[in-house]
Amino acid sequence: MSLPAAGMLKQYLEQRQASGQTHSLLRPGVLDRLRSAGKPTAPRAAEPHGTAPKADVAPQSSSALMEMPVAVPSRLPQKAAGILAVPGQTKVEKLSALAAMAEKSTQAKALCTLRDTMVFAVGNPDATIMLIGEAPGFEEERQREPFVGPAGQKLNGILKAMGLERSQVYISNICKFRPAMEGNQGTSNRAPTDNEMATCLSYVLTEIAIVAPQVIVALGGVACKGLGIGEGVMRLRGRFYDVLGVPTMVTYHPSYLLREEKMAGGGIRAKRECWEDMLKVMEKAGLSISEKQRSYFRQ
Ligand code: URA
Repeated sequence: MSLPAAGMLKQYLEQRQASGQTHSLLRPGVLDRLRSAGKPTAPRAAEPHGTAPKADVAPQSSSALMEMPVAVPSRLPQKAAGILAVPGQTKVEKLSALAAMAEKSTQAKALCTLRDTMVFAVGNPDATIMLIGEAPGFEEERQREPFVGPAGQKLNGILKAMGLERSQVYISNICKFRPAMEGNQGTSNRAPTDNEMATCLSYVLTEIAIVAPQVIVALGGVACKGLGIGEGVMRLRGRFYDVLGVPTMVTYHPSYLLREEKMAGGGIRAKRECWEDMLKVMEKAGLSISEKQRSYFRQ
């Protein structure tokens, strides 16, 4: 992109932002080029033919542009206003008011594709780190707590390696109800659809506003898509995105790590990459990192 074109695009995006349109989509390379608009750039290799600009992230303002790509939506839902405005309420009180609203969600129920039992969140409302998965499964629904099945055991292991207990972080899901399946579902689970996630998004965004973590971790491609960051966890992982002003790391879902473990090579690449992402999360959250932690996956 030529520099005048980059300047024009930047101006256009800022105008869209000012008029409340936050759905301009850019791929990461374009952002880098926007950042360097006005600065001399080294000659770039040609883009592979046919790489269509892919939905990804939207810039918020020129200063935010210098920092992190902004996920869509970039605004708090109206629902949040009522809950956040009540004076003198603790975070726990605000979260339980929000959970009560989510439980009655007419939008979610109207879909008729989500089961009835709500599984809201678990952990410390004052946590600096918030983790967001996809949706409760069989075990989570039974215990009414996120990440208590096999994926939860894996997540606990990752947290332990970070020097954290479950009770020190805040764990939530992008969809608050277990997605239903036809017939006798038994222990089978499925990922939530876009529509299903959309009915719960305002609750998740309000949770983010209440907990106000220093950093969020989007666990897997489904959460990443549901938060509006984009599609393709392999492409998006390892970087921070701005979700309502909170730096949000995209990394692999623990279930993916479990699946990869069973493959030839024991899933070492995925584990190493996930750990690299979590080291960045620890840094962002101001946690100290020991030499042992830094060198887990070094040869
Ligand atoms: N997977 C998720 O994404 N969330 C859970 O709560 C459990 C498994």
